[in-house]
Amino acid sequence: MPRRASLDPSAAAFLPPRRDLASLREASRTCEGCTLWTHATQTVFGEGNPRARLVLVGEQPGDAEDRLGHPFVGPAGHLLDRCLEDAGIDRDLVYITNAVKHFKWEPRGKRRIHTRPSTREVRACRPWLDAELAEIEPAVVVAMGATAAQAILGRTFRLTEHRGEVVADAAGHAVIATLHPSAILRMDDETRRAAERAAFTDDLRHAASLALARVAPALR
Ligand code: URA
Repeated sequence: MPRRASLDPSAAAFLPPRRDLASLREASRTCEGCTLWTHATQTVFGEGNPRARLVLVGEQPGDAEDRLGHPFVGPAGHLLDRCLEDAGIDRDLVYITNAVKHFKWEPRGKRRIHTRPSTREVRACRPWLDAELAEIEPAVVVAMGATAAQAILGRTFRLTEHRGEVVADAAGHAVIATLHPSAILRMDDETRRAAERAAFTDDLRHAASLALARVAPALR
């Protein structure tokens, strides 16, 4: 019996033959690797320093990011900016991207409510993240939230058990998984929110110091 081609959605066919961040970003604009593009305004590709030692990965663009076309420019991005500043990290020196490059949402009245991407959608989008990481070759990757952590470290990874630990992904990157800034924003209890924000900032600081330590030998 002839083998059927895989029906799994994938962005793989949309990647350009020449791989640098500019050509990847350009090619991602027309990605139809899964169906999320149909309701999104545009692809939101990663941005930042192409030689970043530290890459931050979120889940997917939100409402503001979908409209503006840049990652982490809405409320979660504003919190991330403040935590990066508190951790002494210059946003211009890092690279920020998402596990999924299109905004998934459902209508509620006039609002577009974020909906978590499915495992199939995360897997379909993975070639873009793999290509970004292969181009940048960061020393450390910070996965923000369970979706990013599981996209990078596999479905069995448990953020609640391994938050803040340094673990290796299949490609050998050092990965630190931490909370997503949106999760911190959603916390009602002010004391808990402050504590989690401080812990998130500590994770960023730890990742940055590890990134520095890992590049230092190469600079000597
Ligand atoms: N949340 C994310 O995970 N990514 C963004 O770019 C914005 C909000």
